[in-house]
Amino acid sequence: MKKVLFILLSITVAAGLYALIGGSAHDFSDGTGFNADAWNSGTGGELCQPCHTPHNGDATITDAPLWNHTESTQTFVNYGAGYDMNATVGDPAGVSLLCLSCHDGVTALDSFGGTVGTVPLTGAANVGLDLSNDHPISIAYDVALVALDTELHDPTLTASGLGANIDDDMLEGAGNNLLECSSCHDVHNTANVANLLRKSNVQSALCLTCHNK
Ligand code: HEC
Ligand code: HEC
Ligand code: HEC
Ligand code: HEC
Repeated sequence: MKKVLFILLSITVAAGLYALIGGSAHDFSDGTGFNADAWNSGTGGELCQPCHTPHNGDATITDAPLWNHTESTQTFVNYGAGYDMNATVGDPAGVSLLCLSCHDGVTALDSFGGTVGTVPLTGAANVGLDLSNDHPISIAYDVALVALDTELHDPTLTASGLGANIDDDMLEGAGNNLLECSSCHDVHNTANVANLLRKSNVQSALCLTCHNK
């Protein structure tokens, strides 16, 4: 019995360690994750390097520390008026622009550390330049929007299920009120949910965190 418990415990501990960026789709070291050695061999087996650097980071980027990747300079087609949008959709900014620095399908994945790369992201993970058919981002999700929409939870009062309220856990910016890619996704895979989601979307739990349907 003790042995079985020990084995179970070992598996749990191993799974715990695995619930991180290593082995995820954002593991760009050789051999795991996105295994296109054409570009990620330049990381020399490191995990963080395509996005962060300990020295000479890009200090103009305030949305992620010690940023190391070339930021996208593309022009995007934003989400439009939608069905009944109340929020004003801005050009992708903040963390979203950092995501789109690879997921725009134009800025090369291997453009980091001052090197100009050549390999753009292709395939299903390529969000591209047309964001009109993707969930709106770079919008203010605040008390004023909740009053206009009437079918959104108040982010300053509603628990996210991740420890604190929606604004603390899922929103970005100085006012803690901006919905960005990182509202739904965890770039470091800390939660170890498929598609690098912040929380499980079984029964649409992620959607229902904000939408009162
Ligand atoms: C694919 C790009 C990417 C990779 C790879 C990556 N990060 Fe990040 N990191 C980001 C982004 C974007 C943010 C800011 C937004 C956020 O946290 O969602 C961030 C924020 C951070 C922060 C500050 C906020 C926080 O979450 O603590 C730290 C510290 C950090 N990263 C460390 C690391 C380390 C250490 C590694 C390697 C083990 C790493 N990151 C790998 C993109 C990346
Ligand atoms: C972090 C909060 C949050 C999460 C999570 C979230 N949404 Fe939204 N969503 C919003 C906000 C805020 C708006 C803008 C509403 C407005 O302007 O009236 C919006 C807009 C939308 C719209 C556009 C409405 C229109 O009138 O065009 C749809 C559809 C939608 N969300 C569906 C979803 C689905 C499906 C999910 C889960 C995959 C989801 N949302 C997850 C906050 C969220
Ligand atoms: C350094 C480039 C880079 C940056 C920056 C980056 N990604 Fe990725 N991302 C990738 C690559 C490469 C893949 C894997 C593509 C593949 O396997 O086909 C990926 C995969 C993903 C996936 C799919 C996960 C899966 O399990 O299939 C999601 C979701 C994602 N990224 C979201 C984000 C978000 C959100 C951000 C910003 C917070 C971000 N990415 C920043 C390069 C990047
Ligand atoms: C409102 C929540 C939400 C926002 C905001 C959001 N995503 Fe996602 N994303 C999801 C969900 C949920 C999935 C899982 C697949 C699905 O349900 O379509 C997903 C899937 C993905 C995938 C995997 C696609 C595939 O087929 O492999 C990528 C890459 C991705 N998102 C990138 C992004 C980027 C980049 C942004 C910002 C520009 C972003 N997402 C904004 C909820 C969101």
